[in-house]
Amino acid sequence: MEAFVEAGAQVVIADLDLEHARAAADALRDRGAAEAVRCDVQDGDEVGAAVATAVAVFGSLDVMVNNAGIARDATMRRMTESQFDQVISVHLKGCWNGLRHAAAVMREQRSGSIINLSSISGKVGFVGQTNYSAAKAGIVGMTKAAAKELAHLGVRVNAVQPGLIRTAMTEAMPQHIWDTKLAEIPLQRAGEPSEVASVNLFLASDMSSYLTGTVTEVTGGRYM
Ligand SMILES: NC(=O)c1ccc[n+]([C@@H]2O[C@H](COP(=O)([O-])OP(=O)(O)OC[C@H]3O[C@@H](n4cnc5c(N)ncnc54)[C@H](O)[C@@H]3O)[C@@H](O)[C@H]2O)c1
Repeated sequence: MEAFVEAGAQVVIADLDLEHARAAADALRDRGAAEAVRCDVQDGDEVGAAVATAVAVFGSLDVMVNNAGIARDATMRRMTESQFDQVISVHLKGCWNGLRHAAAVMREQRSGSIINLSSISGKVGFVGQTNYSAAKAGIVGMTKAAAKELAHLGVRVNAVQPGLIRTAMTEAMPQHIWDTKLAEIPLQRAGEPSEVASVNLFLASDMSSYLTGTVTEVTGGRYM
């Protein structure tokens, strides 16, 4: 969000955790326009309302980043049906809800860029992530299908596959897991959230005007 606001975008942060979204929007407000709304991406009406807020407050919807995600890691021996369903629902249905509601506005505008957050886990599959890897691979297929549906309307759809990115979630991993993952990364370090944001910003902007249906790996060369 920071990168988008720095580039002059007016943003709506839609998140299940309204306090978190409000804090993020407040931190950005001295540098630009940011609104926060509560939204469960699994609920089409709530996603529709978040999109309507963007249009009502800022006048249009030029970019949609489908970013919401959860992990419920466990090997198949231990993973419950509920853990499988939750991950599929938040990632796949959530992304689909974001796509269709954003596309409804963008098709009228005859322009727009939609960015779907996949993961390198969807390319190579990780132990303990049969739910997450499936959902993230599904997002790639969904991105390509939507890109074909929307191209003639001037709307582009692309996916991003981050690798190991230094966030609160990954910082919580034990050191030996970090060491194993770092050994697989040619650039020999984790990525920073700003390094995913700058790729998202590129895909959002006209600098990527001839890209649609693509999958960009932001992995420091891991699993190339
Ligand atoms: N951090 C990484 O290393 C990494 C790597 C690959 C892909 N990704 C993907 O990038 C995206 C962002 O990851 P992150 O590390 O910033 O995660 P994060 O946990 O910091 O942020 C995810 C956000 O999604 C929100 N959310 C969860 N369920 C929701 C729902 N039903 N409706 C609306 N919001 C919901 C959470 O409240 C949270 O604010 C995710 O899709 C994740 O799968 C992250």
